[in-house]
Parts: sequence; C-alpha cells; structure tokens
Amino acid sequence: MDPHSYARPEEARITHLDLDITVDLQGRALQGTALYDIDDKGAGHIVFDTDGLEIERAFTDGGNEAAFALGDSTFLGRALDIIIPTGTKQVGIVYRTGQDAKALQWLSPGQTAGGEHPFLFTQGQAILTRSWIPIQDSPGIRLTYTARVKVPQGLMAVMSAENPTALSADGSYSFRMEQPIPAYLIALAVGDLRFEPIGSRTGVYAEPSVAKKAAWEFADMERMLESAESLYGPYRWGRYDVIVLPPSFPFGGMENPRLTFATPTILAGDRSLTALVAHELAHSWSGNLVTNETWDDFWLNEGFTVYFENRICEAVYGQEYARMLQLLGRQDLKATIAKLTAEGHADDTHLHLHLEGRDPDDGMTDIAYEKGFAFLKLLESKVGRERFDAFLRGYFDANAFKTMSTERFVAYLDEHLLKPTGTTLNLQEWLDEPGLPASAIEPQSDAFAKVDAEIKRWNEGTPARELATKDWVTFQWMHFLRHLPEGLDDARMAELDKAFGFTESGNAEVLAAWFEQAIRNDYDPAFTALDRFLTTVGRRKFLMPLYTAMVETEKGKVMAQSIYKEARPNYHSVSVRTLDDLLAWKDNRPPASF
Ligand code: BES
Ligand code: ZN
Repeated sequence: MDPHSYARPEEARITHLDLDITVDLQGRALQGTALYDIDDKGAGHIVFDTDGLEIERAFTDGGNEAAFALGDSTFLGRALDIIIPTGTKQVGIVYRTGQDAKALQWLSPGQTAGGEHPFLFTQGQAILTRSWIPIQDSPGIRLTYTARVKVPQGLMAVMSAENPTALSADGSYSFRMEQPIPAYLIALAVGDLRFEPIGSRTGVYAEPSVAKKAAWEFADMERMLESAESLYGPYRWGRYDVIVLPPSFPFGGMENPRLTFATPTILAGDRSLTALVAHELAHSWSGNLVTNETWDDFWLNEGFTVYFENRICEAVYGQEYARMLQLLGRQDLKATIAKLTAEGHADDTHLHLHLEGRDPDDGMTDIAYEKGFAFLKLLESKVGRERFDAFLRGYFDANAFKTMSTERFVAYLDEHLLKPTGTTLNLQEWLDEPGLPASAIEPQSDAFAKVDAEIKRWNEGTPARELATKDWVTFQWMHFLRHLPEGLDDARMAELDKAFGFTESGNAEVLAAWFEQAIRNDYDPAFTALDRFLTTVGRRKFLMPLYTAMVETEKGKVMAQSIYKEARPNYHSVSVRTLDDLLAWKDNRPPASF
C-alpha cells in the first residue's frame, strides 16, 4: 500500500501507456490522449492519480464513453475514478495539463543558452508525473510506454526512451520504452537540442552551443558504463545518454532511464564534477532496475546508488578520489543530522521513513544517500568486498524490474549475506533509529589532510598566496572552503579571493561553497556574482544553503527577499516550494513585512 498514490492496483492496474500529445510552448500546456493497456481484476473501476489536469473525456475498448469522477484535491492531487465494464482491456483519457503543472518547467528563450527558442522539461520524482499525465503514480507500479509527441518545427523532443538523434522535418517524434518502469521515470524535454556521440552506447544531448563542451566533459561516460557492468552485471537499457538542461533544472541529475537529465552546473571545464554522471548511471541498477516500493524506502534507491557511484569513481578515477567523495558526503550527513535534529525532525534521520500524510519530497534528504552509504560500507567491511560484490550482483539480478521494501530487503540480506557469513549487526539502529550509529566507519583522506594542514598554516600567518595549493583538485577546494575559520573580515576574505579567484570561479561547487562564506562574513565584493548565480541557477542543493545563510541576519534577509523576488520566476516548482517555505512566501507573494 503506497500512501502517496490514489491508485488501487489490486483492483485494476495499468501495464502499458500509449501517449499521444501536442506540446504548446506558447500556451504552456500539453494536450492529448493517454491510452492504457490495463490488467482489470473485475472491480468495475480503475483509479488514476492526477494533479491539476483537465480531464475532457474517458473511454474504454473501441472508444466507448466511460463515466468518470474526480475526487477532492489534496497534496496528492485528485483521484480520477473511471467506471469500466468487467474484462476491459484498454482505457483512454483525453486531457490537458493545467496552469502551474508541478512537473513542468516552461522556459522562455532568455532562460536558455541559445536565447532564441523556448524550452520545456519535466521532473517526475517523486509524485509529479501525475501533473502531466493521468497515471497510477506509485513506484510499485511499472509500465512500458510508447509516445508520439508533436512539437514546433525546428525543435527536438527527447524522452526517457529510445530517442531521435536528428531533428524531424515536421516536429513529430515517436518514442518507445520497452522495459517496464515506474511512472516517476517517465520524462520529456523539448528544445533546440543537438546530439553528440561519446562512445558506442553513450552520448549527450544539449543546446547547440553547449553540446560539444558537454561531450568533452563527459568523455569518461563509456568507461563508467563498462566499470559499472563489470561490477554489478549487464546494463539492461540499451543506450545511456545524458541531456544537459538549462541551469534552472532543480536537481544535479535525474536518472530518467536511457537519458539522464542533468544540470549544466557540472560542466566545470575540467571533468571534475562527473561523479554525478556515475551516480545517475548507477541508478540504472539501484532505483530503475530494483525500485523502492514506496517513498518510505527511498534509501534503497539512493543509498545503494551512492555506494555504486563511489565504486564506479574508484574504478575510473582511483581510490583517493573515491575517499574524498566519501568524506564530503559524511560532512553533509553530519550537517543534515544536526539540522534535522535541531528542527525537531529526528524521525527523518531514520533510514526507513514514515512519510504518510506528508509530501514525500520533505523526507528526501541526505540521510537516504549518506547514512544509506555508511550502512552499505559497514556491510562491505564486515563481509569483505568480494563477498559483498557477489551479494549486490545477485540482489540486482534476483530483483530486476521489481520493487523492494525495507522489510523485504532485511529478509533478503539476512538470507543471502548475514546468515551465510555468520555476520551479526544491529539492524534496528541503522534502519529505525535516529542519527549515525557508532558502528559507522569514518572515511579517511590523505588529500584532505593536506588541505587541513594548509588551513592551519594560513591561520598561523602564512599568506594565502604562499599556501601549497598548486595541485589541488575541486574536492580539495570544496573541503578548504568548508573549513575556513569563522568570522573572517573583509581583508582576510579579499586575501583569499585575490590569491585563488573564488568569486570568478567557473566551478559551480567551488562558487557555491565560496558564496556561503561570503554571506556569513558579509563580504560585499562577491554579492554581484552571488546575485547572478542565484538568478540563473535553479539547482536546489545550491540554493538552499545560500538562502539559509542569508536569512540568518537582518541585512541578509532583505537581500534574500530581493534576490528571490527576481529569481523566483526562473525556478522550477520543486525549488519554489522549498524556498517559499524558507522565505515565508504565501500564494506567490512575499511576506507582508518585506
Ligand atoms: N533521484 C535523484 C534526484 C531526486 C531526488 C529527484 C528526490 C527528486 C526527488 C538523483 O539521482 C540525485 O540524487 N541527484 C543528486 C546528485 C547526486 C550526485 C547526489 C542531485 O540532484 O544533487
Ligand atoms: Zn540519486
């Protein structure tokens, strides 16, 4: 039973979607027909999830009109209940998306790299697909799909499916996803797009001015794919491509099958932020192949993926790189635990969540990622890597194209790993208790120890420009910026900026970490660049710490409100929802005191 879906799959469930839609970029709406093959158990009706959709009509086999009713509107949207005769094989729904459909972000030409064409992308996870397709929107319900999408001539459409590599003459595109996937992985992007191949199974889609740079940045993708396969078995989705979206994309990446959606903020120009690609690629096993049954089991998607990502990175970039990643992750985890605990949400630091009655997005924190990773790392250390790898490979094979709940995972783990190896473990403290268990292993990194030593020298009077930073990589700079002493005055900040050029950095991770320091230390010279960053980049992971730091002071609050007023129209609904909360916006309005 999924508390975040109105669907009743035990009565009737969808098995295949044939989607036929037109994309109206001017009117900012999608309209068309969703035709489903269904498995009807004879209950006399079928229930779909919708959110903001206008339902025009519903029909069954052969086009017979079907009576339907929409339920009350809640944070889950509205149930669409369609009456069907017993034995019904197909159900069709003619619909149109509403204003402010939560999954959709419609970009004006000015929000794109090219500046000439509008752009559209969707974001389905966790429960947003229902705002652009009437569907049974539960991760436990899988379907195959085909689609025909009509877009303005000259633009390209791509989906989480078999994709075109060239423009169509008339703007019509056809898609096919042959493997059954949950609704949250259905995705669409439309814009002025080009394809650049990388390896034989890999490539990148992006706007024309970005495509070549992106292909260079992601040159390691084919090697990542090969490493992933040699770790945990064949890649089962055919091709693996990435689309680089405009900067308002609210996440770093989203693992849409066959086509990862990614933020352009990973194009650092030196391939230093490609771990994100390894992460989304890893989801092709953990998440897309073996899928969390409900959002309470989110850690089964993300924790496994962080572990797998780390293994891919170790294989491709070496052990030190993997260790730095682990340590940055552990720093994030500790900060998240402290924050959630202080806010009275210690329950959200459990791996196994209880999100009923809440927006699942609210429970999706670093906990699933990094506490999940720490748990798997502990298992690895207890049974040895060889044994653990064999276990994981078996797990992905045995559960491919199925869902997994925390309870069933515990049973599987016990039977296939703990019992056979005689391993004992306090599962309760890992899964159902707050914080980080004492049994967690602390990652170590020599590269970060070097950074710590240089910070110490700076504190003791060595000028910034004389610090031994010559060979530092991006992760070391992030560690450096995260561990600067508190209360730096303008002169000290300027000394760093002059020596290392942080305000002008082309690396978004470095910039974001620097801006956080600039806000905390009220370092004015960085604020023009900060403003520019916040009005173009919509990646929530960057926005949250920056706005959070701003609202900690009176001056910062005013600055936050004025930047947000400018920037808000450029953000996707998932970022807007979180930031409205933080900045006390209500009904599209700033707080009265502002
Ligand atoms: N599946 C997530 C993104 C997501 C999570 C979307 C929850 C909606 C709800 C994706 O795989 C992810 O984790 N992205 C990270 C990057 C990663 C390297 C940790 C991100 O977006 O920052
Ligand atoms: Zn992920």
